[in-house]
Amino acid sequence: MPIAPRLRQVSFHGLVTFPEVVMSDSAAKPRPQFRNLTFGQLATYRLPLAGKLSILHRITGFLLFLALPLILLPFFERSLISEIGFADFAEFATNPIVKVVLLILIWAYLHHFCAGIRYLLLDVHIGLEKASAARSAAIVFAVSLLLTAVFGLKLFGVF
Ligand code: HEM
Repeated sequence: MPIAPRLRQVSFHGLVTFPEVVMSDSAAKPRPQFRNLTFGQLATYRLPLAGKLSILHRITGFLLFLALPLILLPFFERSLISEIGFADFAEFATNPIVKVVLLILIWAYLHHFCAGIRYLLLDVHIGLEKASAARSAAIVFAVSLLLTAVFGLKLFGVF
C-alpha cells in the first residue's frame, strides 16, 4: 500500500524512511506553532507588529465611539456656544487628570487615523507584501506616537 506523501521521507541514500527516524534534528528544536491558542499560550504568543496595530485600531475605534457622545461632543459643543462656555472648558482642561484623558483620546484618534489610512491603502492593494506591511505598521506606530508627543507637549504647555 502506498505511504501517504506527508508521512513518507526519502533519505540521502534514496531509502524510504519515516519522519521519526530522520527528523531527530528538527524534532530536537521544534518550531513553535500557534494554532487554536489555549489560554496558557496567550502569555508566550508574540503577535507581529501589524497584529498589534490591528488590535489597537479596533480598541481606539471603540474608545472614540464611546468618547464621542460622552466626552467630545458635549464639551466641544459647550466650548463653541459662547465665550463663557469656552472659558469654562479652558478652565476645566487645566486639571491634570482631564489633560491625561484628553491625551489618551488624542493618541486614540491619531493611532486610529494613521492606521485607518494604512488600511485604506491596503484595501487598494498598496503595501500588501509581508515586509512592506510590517514596515508600514512600524511607520504608523512611529508617526502616531510622534504626533501624540507633539500634541501632548502642547497640551501640557511646554510650548
Ligand atoms: C471619531 C472618529 C472615528 C470613530 C468613532 C471610528 C470608529 C471606528 C470603528 C469602531 C471601527 C471598527 C473597528 C473594528 O471593528 O476593527 C473603525 C474602522 C475603521 N476606521 Fe474608524 N473611526 C473614526 C475615525 C476614522 C478616521 C478619521 C479614519 C480615516 C483614516 C478611519 C478609518 C477607519 C478604517 C479604514 C476602518 C476599517 C478598518 C478595517 O478594515 O478593519 N476611522 N472605525
